[in-house]
Amino acid sequence: MREALARLLALATGLVVLAAAIVFAWFQNAGTATAVAAEPPPVAADADVARIERGRAVYADAGCAGCHAIDGQGNPRNPLDGVGSSLSPEEIRHYTTADPAVADDLAPRVVAAKKEFAKLPAEDLDALVAYLSSLK
Ligand code: HEC
Repeated sequence: MREALARLLALATGLVVLAAAIVFAWFQNAGTATAVAAEPPPVAADADVARIERGRAVYADAGCAGCHAIDGQGNPRNPLDGVGSSLSPEEIRHYTTADPAVADDLAPRVVAAKKEFAKLPAEDLDALVAYLSSLK
């Protein structure tokens, strides 16, 4: 009789532990799901920061500073400070590559130089536009 009771007690304990594990796992998953749902903004911000940093490097490598200045660095004739406030990303892209949409605003010599930038890899161009758009 005592043996049967002990076995029943062991079984009951096992069930309680199992139930606790299930409840625990459920809460853990629910917690993870909430955490993931709450994360996107910081993750997106990190991606933006990385893109802007890459754009800064593309700006330096492409030689934009030969004609433009940012923060007093480069050619003071055509400052780009605050260009993110005055132009949309699309307009910035057009001016960077002397797109036909804006080519009439630029001297032929400048158009010729800027046409080269249309050949930049798409991701570099996107990063460059993101960087300039961040200059508010
Ligand atoms: C050969 C000289 C030259 C080079 C090189 C050059 N630009 Fe320009 N850019 C100009 C001139 C001139 C203008 C028209 C004047 C202005 O608006 O600042 C202009 C206009 C712009 C504008 C519009 C500015 C505004 O406020 O209207 C952007 C954006 C721009 N350039 C981006 C770039 C980027 C990015 C690079 C490098 C990939 C670059 N440019 C390289 C000469 C140049």
